[in-house]
Amino acid sequence: MITKDINKGIEALYKNELVALPTETVYGLAGNAYNESAIKKIFELKKRPLYNPLIVHSHSTEQLKEVAKEIPEKAKILAEKFWPGSLTLVLKKQDHISDLVTAGKDTVAVRVPQHLMALALLEQLDFPLVAPSANPFGSISPTSAQHVWDYFQDKLPVILDGGNCSNGVESTIVGFRSDTVVLYRHGSVSVEEIEQVVGKIEMVIHDNETPDAPGMLSKHYAPKTPAILTDYIEEEVLKNIGKNIGVLVFKDQLKRNETIHQEILSPEGNLKEASKNLYATLHRLDAMKLDIIIAERLPDYGLGITLNDRLSRAVKR
Ligand code: TXA
Ligand code: MG
Repeated sequence: MITKDINKGIEALYKNELVALPTETVYGLAGNAYNESAIKKIFELKKRPLYNPLIVHSHSTEQLKEVAKEIPEKAKILAEKFWPGSLTLVLKKQDHISDLVTAGKDTVAVRVPQHLMALALLEQLDFPLVAPSANPFGSISPTSAQHVWDYFQDKLPVILDGGNCSNGVESTIVGFRSDTVVLYRHGSVSVEEIEQVVGKIEMVIHDNETPDAPGMLSKHYAPKTPAILTDYIEEEVLKNIGKNIGVLVFKDQLKRNETIHQEILSPEGNLKEASKNLYATLHRLDAMKLDIIIAERLPDYGLGITLNDRLSRAVKR
């Protein structure tokens, strides 16, 4: 059921059922973070491997003290600056947090989301929510209630409709090593924004199969249609391929051509707008039964780094 009634969500969550939850980044597949049967349902429905830990969502830094401990000074500064918002902090976990949430690690990922419906829901619960993105493992994250419905239909008791996600890509994930902030996942908050607050941060993003942050598996966020990513799209080359082609560009408009379906992420060349549109555009292109999607790399700064990261994982086979 798709609904705007958060009471339906609250009822389901107290029965340890799952609820799709709008956040400002992407839709989450939410369950009671303190209930193992709810957590197991998340892994089953997503077909997510158990080695991939979950993010705990809360309405307040206060509530997160139940979840995490020994919070470093720089974590406090980042929380103060970016919460509620799209930054996830990896912290030492409290002993009672289930190994299912953390994949057996002694750390736990936490964030306070900004979306008003998410906050209103969290405030009415006496437990926090674990919520991975509401998509089958490896596929494109949902940025609307309809995307979630397309993936799960009635297998999900309640899909809360909070409109289109305003940021459109997942939260940025950072952890802490003594006094250093380390980046596990590029996301909605850019590296530049974080560095303005805590100084230089360290990149520990790995592209292997047993990474520190398994969201960083090299193939992820993938459409079913074959896709490639290129620095620059040459119109002449496109014409000669002669297939049913979907083209994804940042802002520059190519000339019209019947065999090419073109999507522009931000006509004005605004990275925030491109971020909001990226997954919705990929969902749309993927539904068109194209032979191939050709995406053009975005500028490599700010949010552009995040979007290029997602595109490069989306095109892996
Ligand atoms: O924007 C978001 O973060 C969305 C919304 C729903 O909040 N959630 C999301 O969750 O993207 P998910 O499960 O798709 O990605 C969570 C990632 C994991 O893949 C993993 O890389 C990282 O968070 N993670 C979780 N716990 C961790 C830990 N203890 N240490 C390192 N990375 C962790
Ligand atoms: Mg995900």
